[in-house]
Amino acid sequence: MADNSATASQVPYEVNTDVPQTARIWNYWLGGKDNFDVDREVGDQILEAFPAIVENARASRAFLVRAVRYLAGAAGIRQFLDIGTGLPTANNTHEVAQAVAPECRIVYVDNDPIVLVHARALLTSTPEGATAYIDADLRDPDTILQQAARTLDFTQPIAIMLNGILGHIPDDEQAQSIVKRLLSGVRSGSYLTMNDGTDTSQEVVEAARIWNQSANPTYHLRSRERIARFFDGLELVEPGVVSPPRWRPEPSPSGLVGEVDLACGVGRRP
Ligand SMILES: C[S@@+](CC[C@H](N)C(=O)[O-])C[C@H]1O[C@@H](n2cnc3c(N)ncnc32)[C@H](O)[C@@H]1O
Repeated sequence: MADNSATASQVPYEVNTDVPQTARIWNYWLGGKDNFDVDREVGDQILEAFPAIVENARASRAFLVRAVRYLAGAAGIRQFLDIGTGLPTANNTHEVAQAVAPECRIVYVDNDPIVLVHARALLTSTPEGATAYIDADLRDPDTILQQAARTLDFTQPIAIMLNGILGHIPDDEQAQSIVKRLLSGVRSGSYLTMNDGTDTSQEVVEAARIWNQSANPTYHLRSRERIARFFDGLELVEPGVVSPPRWRPEPSPSGLVGEVDLACGVGRRP
């Protein structure tokens, strides 16, 4: 992968290093280096209240990898719209998809300027495929669909990916309407894959409280049932909406399949 480390001189003025930011805190928990003292400070406070956060972050990325492999493999999808990309890490969407089918085309979307700084690491591609990056906000799905059409062919199925981002939209009605607008823009046979935090333990609820005191944007846990409603009208891929380690697990040496405070799923637009 291309070098993705930003030096201080490359950090644009829009990047606020005084306020902890979601992409950078997530990067910290995943063991990345693209974060600042403010991010590590709140990241550590949350770690203390909720030590399983690191396991949650890893389980979440592992789900993303299995879901993309499934979509590019068994489901035959060749186009991905990954909204809320995050900072480049191991196994980015285009790497996983193009390892299965080199002709896959991927559009990444994020609204954090630091992700934009690192986007060049995401913009590598096989010669047969393509990757692109859009600096846009999930709350403006029309702009996302319009700009994605420069790279993706909307007459063909597209997998819309919303991993760890809908929790940043507190209102269920607004979040539902965004998901519906995105799905209405893609053709039958397209997919939605998503994954988000659930209010399933006292520790994770405390972690969200700490997060919302200082980090940007705020993050709101939902019950598994509320998360499952984002798939209304879609054909859920087995095993449905579950804790990520239970979604089509690959054999592991320990054989353990655990619960984490997340819910994920993949659904097909009929
Ligand atoms: C927790 S990270 C998840 C990263 C990646 N999807 C993953 O699963 O590892 C959430 C990402 O969503 C982005 N994000 C949050 N709110 C957003 C919005 N309204 N529009 C676009 N991106 C947003 C953040 O900048 C961050 O990169």
